[in-house]
Amino acid sequence: MRLFDFIERLVTWEATTDEKIMGQARELIRIATNGNPPPLLDPFAGGGSIPLEAQRLGLEAHASDLNPVAVMINKAMIEIPPRFADRPPVNPRDRKGLFTTEGRVDTDPPAQRS
Ligand SMILES: C[S@@+](CC[C@H](N)C(=O)[O-])C[C@H]1O[C@@H](n2cnc3c(N)ncnc32)[C@H](O)[C@@H]1O
Repeated sequence: MRLFDFIERLVTWEATTDEKIMGQARELIRIATNGNPPPLLDPFAGGGSIPLEAQRLGLEAHASDLNPVAVMINKAMIEIPPRFADRPPVNPRDRKGLFTTEGRVDTDPPAQRS
C-alpha cells in the first residue's frame, strides 16, 4: 500500500521537476533490484514516452521502432539531450541570466521575462 501512495505522488505534474521525489523513485528501484537495475528496451517506442520515463528514473534506456520518424523523435528525446545535460546555454544573453547573485539557477531570468 505504501508503494501505491508513493506512485500517487510520483505521477503528479508537480513531481516531474521535483528532484526529491525522483531521487526517492530511483532509490526504491535501486533497493528493489539489489543495486543492479535492469536496462529497459522498448522495441515499439513510438513517441518515446516509455524510454524517456525510464531514463528519468535512472535506467539505461534503449528504443527502436519500424517508423523512421519515430526513431528520429526518440533520438531527439532520449539520446541527444543527455549529451548536453548540465551545460550552460551557448547564447551569451541566456547564459548571463542563468544564475542569481547567490549563484543559484534563476528560474525567472531576464531573457525570459515578458
Ligand atoms: C502505439 S505506438 C507506441 C507508442 C509509445 N508507447 C508511446 O508512448 O509513444 C506503436 C509503435 O509500434 C511501431 N511498430 C509497429 N509494428 C512494428 C514492428 N514490427 N517493429 C517495430 N516497430 C513497430 C509503430 O511504428 C508505432 O510507432
